[in-house]
Amino acid sequence: MNTEKQACDFTIFGVLGDLSRRKLIPSLYQLDTVGLLHDDSRIIGVARHDLDQEAFVAKMRESLETFVTDPLAPEVVERLLARLHYVLINLDAPDEYQRLADIVDQEKRVLINYFSVAPFLFDDICEGLAHADIITPQTRVVLEKPIGRDLATSQEINDTVARRFNEDQIYRIDHYLGKETVMNLLALRFANSIFTTNWDHNTIDHVQITVAEQVGIEGRWGYFDKAGQLRDMVQNHLMQILTLVAMEPPVNLHGDSLRNEKLKVLKALRPITRDNIEDKVVRGQYTDGFIKGETVTGYLEEEGGNPDSTTETFAALRVDIDNWRWADVPFYLRTGKAMTTKRSEVVINFKHLPHNIFRDSYKKLPPNKLIIRLQPNEGVEIEILNKVPGVARAVQLQRTMLDLSFSEAFEVERIADAYERLILEIMRGNQALFVHRDEVERSWAWIDSIQEAWAESNERPKKYPAGSWGPVASVALLARDGRQWEE
Ligand code: BG6
Repeated sequence: MNTEKQACDFTIFGVLGDLSRRKLIPSLYQLDTVGLLHDDSRIIGVARHDLDQEAFVAKMRESLETFVTDPLAPEVVERLLARLHYVLINLDAPDEYQRLADIVDQEKRVLINYFSVAPFLFDDICEGLAHADIITPQTRVVLEKPIGRDLATSQEINDTVARRFNEDQIYRIDHYLGKETVMNLLALRFANSIFTTNWDHNTIDHVQITVAEQVGIEGRWGYFDKAGQLRDMVQNHLMQILTLVAMEPPVNLHGDSLRNEKLKVLKALRPITRDNIEDKVVRGQYTDGFIKGETVTGYLEEEGGNPDSTTETFAALRVDIDNWRWADVPFYLRTGKAMTTKRSEVVINFKHLPHNIFRDSYKKLPPNKLIIRLQPNEGVEIEILNKVPGVARAVQLQRTMLDLSFSEAFEVERIADAYERLILEIMRGNQALFVHRDEVERSWAWIDSIQEAWAESNERPKKYPAGSWGPVASVALLARDGRQWEE
């Protein structure tokens, strides 16, 4: 992997949009703060508004002031703003891309094109870049989610971009791959012998992956109601976590090695279809309730909402991976909006011991658990049984936590936002943290089968009050197998 700083023309299409203002520009600022941007790197903003350079810089300054949470360092702000250039392009007007061609200099800087716009515009941008003759084998393109809403539409998007760019020029973002703790799954699994040898059906009973969000839909009805939690969160973020937990050891950390191993897991997912969906999936929709003492309006009553919508704001699934390592080890996934708390974690539940020598006092010993807290309060916990010190009684055991909190263990001032890591890796040309076309399409094919089964059934999503852990049926999903969610 190349960790040398490379001079780039980091071009953001849709620079005035929400993602760019909230995440991209603030992340570039953070990278500049720690000296990770090359002195000659520039940030080129593309949009169709008639702005002069001064007005553009003022808008970007405002984004920094609004969205960077730490106190701003004035010299870094000025350095970053001096890198900015604005180019007005109507994305569907190929001739206008010449304005970009007039600025970029691919002899000196790598051209990175970040498509921070809706996917229906990808084709226009690709054709515009080709028309201006600024695509070279070194040119990179970054695609934001959603890459489609099913297999067919994702293939269309991928085909569109593939007409002008090779797969090794394409960086598909799943921002969960930029989170420190998600990448730490690799370190935990493959840098620690206790986990490399205890990571399969011999020792693990089942795995739980929870991504609970406290936010509701809050004005995003237009987008969300067409997607739902399965497409919005499971197809991408939860699938990525699942593949990192389940994959075989890659031969190294290179993009191809990692992505091939993740793909093998996706290929081994047992399909969920009309015939088994009732035993495998619970979909939910929040009604009104309370979160942090505030009233929350139910999904169907949200402003601009359709009271007949059957879109799910919660999904819980039992996923089976049909391969040697994970035979009979279910992965339970759940994710929802408007839940009681914001919490993302992976819980590895180990098997019961084959023989209990403490049975005079304990009929059944609770098995060990490894809890990987992805966010917030990032860290790793191991639940073990310990003897309570003392001589008065026979052996008394107690569950104890070995608790590693990242903020306490490491003297890091702040945990970097996922976009900082991802932008840096795009500049370095490292594809390991980006999603390969095959992964996207495999994952959609698996999700499509669930969507089809839902479409054929008349059952509506199960209700759950905002501020809860989801519908009661999701508890039953595990209870049927004699298990329960970690709460
Ligand atoms: C996005 C989804 O991809 O991830 C949002 O579209 C969701 O609906 C968000 O809220 C969650 O990201 P994070 O980083 O806050 O867990």
